[in-house]
Amino acid sequence: MTTEGEARTRTIPDRIRLTPTGWESPELKGMLVSASEIQSRVRELADEIQSQLPVDKPIVILPVLSGSFLFAADLVRHWRFACELDFIGLSSYGASTQPGLIDWTHKLKTDIKDKHVLVIDDILDTGQTLDEIRKELSKHHPTAIHTCVLLHKTLKTSGSTRFQADYTGFKIPDHFVVGYGLDFALKFRQLPFIGILSTNCHGTNAD
Ligand code: IMP
Ligand code: MG
Repeated sequence: MTTEGEARTRTIPDRIRLTPTGWESPELKGMLVSASEIQSRVRELADEIQSQLPVDKPIVILPVLSGSFLFAADLVRHWRFACELDFIGLSSYGASTQPGLIDWTHKLKTDIKDKHVLVIDDILDTGQTLDEIRKELSKHHPTAIHTCVLLHKTLKTSGSTRFQADYTGFKIPDHFVVGYGLDFALKFRQLPFIGILSTNCHGTNAD
């Protein structure tokens, strides 16, 4: 596994900005990453990944459902090389904002033997999910597994090099975040920005 692209990763300060007009909700504390910051970083990430991966070799792009659906959709729109694209699904937040047991909701269906794999996930929190994905995909003998996450809650995984992605959009402070694919009880996935959930909402279902 290569190490995280430290130089390129953006670090988001622990500063809560106003929720954009029209998106205000009592369940949202405010905004952490704006829609335009996301879009420009996604473009950079796509360029960075394509400049480093052997794009002339077979590559399978595997977004992790459900949280990465918007991120993956925007990222692959900048993908200029031949690739196969399929989905895998895992859920770890069964009934709360605290991570629980990991459940495979959509298993690997594609042949990845002797191919490069690019896993795209929404957020790296404890790192359990990416770890589980790496272990499971390794059993299918890919040439290499590359990982890309939009967000990394660095406080949770600091001091550990085990839980890092090869490509990270933003390092963020430890808040429960929603929007741009990430949900709380299936809500807020459609926000074009990353927002912070109000603390009084914690405790019930989130994925
Ligand atoms: P990990 O296994 O603890 O690294 O968590 C990874 C998964 O948990 C992500 O793919 C998300 O689906 C979910 N998750 C972690 N933190 C958040 C959050 O702040 N908001 C929404 N979902 C989260
Ligand atoms: Mg997820």
